[in-house]
Amino acid sequence: MKFSLGLLFAAVAVASSPAKRADAVSVTGSPPGFAYGVTGGGDATPVYPTDVKHLIELLGSDDPQVIIIDKTFDFIGTEGTTKGNICKAYGSFEDGCQSTIDIGKGCDGKPSEPYEWDTAGTTGITVQSDKTIIGVGNKGVLLGKGLRIVRASNIIVQNIMITNLNPQLVWGGDAITLSGTSKVWIDHVTTQYTGRVHYVFGHEANAHVTISNSFMNGATNFSTSCDGQNYWGLELVGADDQITFANNYVYRTSGRSPALSGKTLFHAVNSVWEDNSGHAIEGTDDGQGLFEGCVFNNVTQIVGDFVGQLFSSPSATANKECAGYLKRDCVTNIQTNNGDQFTNADTKFFSNFAGLNIATASAASAAQASVPTNAGNTL
Ligand SMILES: *[C@@H]1O[C@H](CO)[C@@H](O)[C@H](O)[C@H]1NC(C)=O
Ligand SMILES: *[C@@H]1O[C@H](CO)[C@@H](O)[C@H](O)[C@H]1NC(C)=O
Repeated sequence: MKFSLGLLFAAVAVASSPAKRADAVSVTGSPPGFAYGVTGGGDATPVYPTDVKHLIELLGSDDPQVIIIDKTFDFIGTEGTTKGNICKAYGSFEDGCQSTIDIGKGCDGKPSEPYEWDTAGTTGITVQSDKTIIGVGNKGVLLGKGLRIVRASNIIVQNIMITNLNPQLVWGGDAITLSGTSKVWIDHVTTQYTGRVHYVFGHEANAHVTISNSFMNGATNFSTSCDGQNYWGLELVGADDQITFANNYVYRTSGRSPALSGKTLFHAVNSVWEDNSGHAIEGTDDGQGLFEGCVFNNVTQIVGDFVGQLFSSPSATANKECAGYLKRDCVTNIQTNNGDQFTNADTKFFSNFAGLNIATASAASAAQASVPTNAGNTL
């Protein structure tokens, strides 16, 4: 499986066995859905960055690059610390609550105190166009700094973990930022211990994006809900974003999973939401989400007062509505032990799937069986 489809990307010679030298590492599989056709660094010679400085240079290079991450790159301390004020809006660190960095807006009457945090965590590494980033086994870790993909295209990020971005502080760091991008495929990525969002889509359109097989681990020691679960999941509030969200595991969040607005077209397929102590979907009236073959288990509020357009594959009859747009029926979701029923059946936005590559969908039971163990940097 791991090396079988590497030739699709013509990255490097396909390894015949995993025991071969690591320099034969190549992209595994191909993107389901909207990011179809992405090539990243293509057949550029794979480079093993030696240290954080080298990694930053490669990701920011103007040339196509295939960058192999075979160890932990520890960014903590590499940019020093920042002193400022934090707002104690939710409670104390001792009680498992996050504080909020005062980004110049004051603390709205809440107590504030001076604090010092790691600077590297607050801004992701700039990623320029035509890059492939591949982690080796479970060794590829970005510790203390995320990725920032802004006005760039044709990027593959596969099989890495991003962790520990000032997790005690709101605004402490986002794992992956996208704004003004096209053709970005994020696959088998684990994000955890973020200060703020796991994935944030900025205000410029992001076209042809796929997030697949990824593990959003919301379990944390500090959160705004003070219950060990991260509130800041997926911020999909840009403009005209197109996002396929396939085979992902969204675990132990407490909100914004996703926040969906800005005319974002969100196709969630075979993804699993589990143990959410707050809300899953929130957003304004221009958000558009099709959820099929997904699993919602033990989510306090799946849809609540969301006012946009959603289709939750509510029944076999309703699922036939998909055929004209996806060239197949939609696949019913599994819903167990949740605080509400997800029954939305809006179809007006389906015309926005025209011209896009559509991910296939398996039965939700298959996702339930495989996604929680396979998602993340498990290749
Ligand atoms: C969370 O807190 C526990 C108990 O203090 C500690 O063992 C663990 O390492 C902490 N996790 C992180 C990611 O800091
Ligand atoms: C449901 O999720 C909550 C966290 O949101 C967790 O504390 C609880 O143990 C979960 N229940 C089950 C039965 O797993």
